[in-house]
Amino acid sequence: MDLASQALTPDAFRSHFPIFEDKAHLCSCSEGALSDRVIVAMSEFMTSWRVHGAPWHEWMDYVDIARGRFAELIHADPGDIAVVSCASEAAYHVASTLSYEKRSRILTNDLEFPSVAHVWLAQGQRGAAVDFVGHKDGVITAEDYVAALHDDDALVSVPLVSYANGLRLPVREIADAAHAKGARVFVDAYQGAGVVPADVRELDCDYLVSGTLKYLLGAPGICFLYVRPGLELPLDPPLTGWFARKEPFAFNPRLLDYADDARRFQTGTPAIPAAFAGAAGLSLILETDPARNLEHVLALGDYLQEEFLRAGVALFSPRERSRRGPQVSVLAQDAEGLGAYLAERGVLVSPRGQAIRISLHYYNNLDDARRVVEGVLEYRKGHAL
Ligand SMILES: Cc1ncc(COP(=O)(O)O)c(C=O)c1O
Repeated sequence: MDLASQALTPDAFRSHFPIFEDKAHLCSCSEGALSDRVIVAMSEFMTSWRVHGAPWHEWMDYVDIARGRFAELIHADPGDIAVVSCASEAAYHVASTLSYEKRSRILTNDLEFPSVAHVWLAQGQRGAAVDFVGHKDGVITAEDYVAALHDDDALVSVPLVSYANGLRLPVREIADAAHAKGARVFVDAYQGAGVVPADVRELDCDYLVSGTLKYLLGAPGICFLYVRPGLELPLDPPLTGWFARKEPFAFNPRLLDYADDARRFQTGTPAIPAAFAGAAGLSLILETDPARNLEHVLALGDYLQEEFLRAGVALFSPRERSRRGPQVSVLAQDAEGLGAYLAERGVLVSPRGQAIRISLHYYNNLDDARRVVEGVLEYRKGHAL
């Protein structure tokens, strides 16, 4: 049987998340809902600590289980994945192992997550020039990227989905154009992996990063960096540590030998509790079908968009289905105030800047969507949107 026919139904998936007993959790773009499996995994971590004192071997196995499950999700080999602490660190590893002598430009965009863009900007001190593709009404197209590409681009950075408004970018088209210019392609999949297919063979990217805490349903603390196998690295990672060594347990302070695979990008002790949580969250994701997950969140997004537009509510998220990820965002003068108003009514969204982000996962249903529409329209009776 193929995965699609074995995949959990949305209702079966939802039953793993106790928060839906009384809340409409629509903020996975900020933090995924807590599942029964993560609760069990975290208590297993506590028990192992309480009973065995320092079971490092067992704990490191969990890091490898999390790595392996992420590898399965993105169709990569576990050896092509480094376990790091956050996306900024992953971006730093990529930026710091490139040379900007021959190719000096990094191309990113105005809807990039700021932390990643900041790492690119910080390469200015190493001679890199950073350019931004602008957005028009929250949309960036492949043509916008293609028109901005230069022959001296070292790195082209493109998120799978933008954190700001859920724009789903045409990564493969951009990657093909960037590769034709000889540039490398970095994909921040943080706002998509788990509900938007992130198959590195299809995206054809050179690097891909995602953390476990959002759509992968784990806890903060662990992030994965995929590096295309065989990619030539001009420099060794200057930020390093014992888990980047060929033999981490050789304990030789004089020997700086980098692992042959992507572990060369690791540093020090990984966040073990986050590895337990991440492995558990990923186990649930792997029981779903990525194409079906995307269809599910797009259908809920269609409903939200239609209802909001019919009521004259202005949106920041793109209208076209083909450009939308797992998010519908509503423009609001006081996004924090609207978010707090909804939270008091048990509807959890994520305010960010000029909008509230309503994010959708495979666990969300029409009832959640109706609750948020009702809440926003109720709020509008007493406040300007
Ligand atoms: C697209 C995207 N990338 C990265 C991050 C997190 O970056 P970091 O792990 O460096 O905190 C977020 C979190 O909000 C995000 O939305």
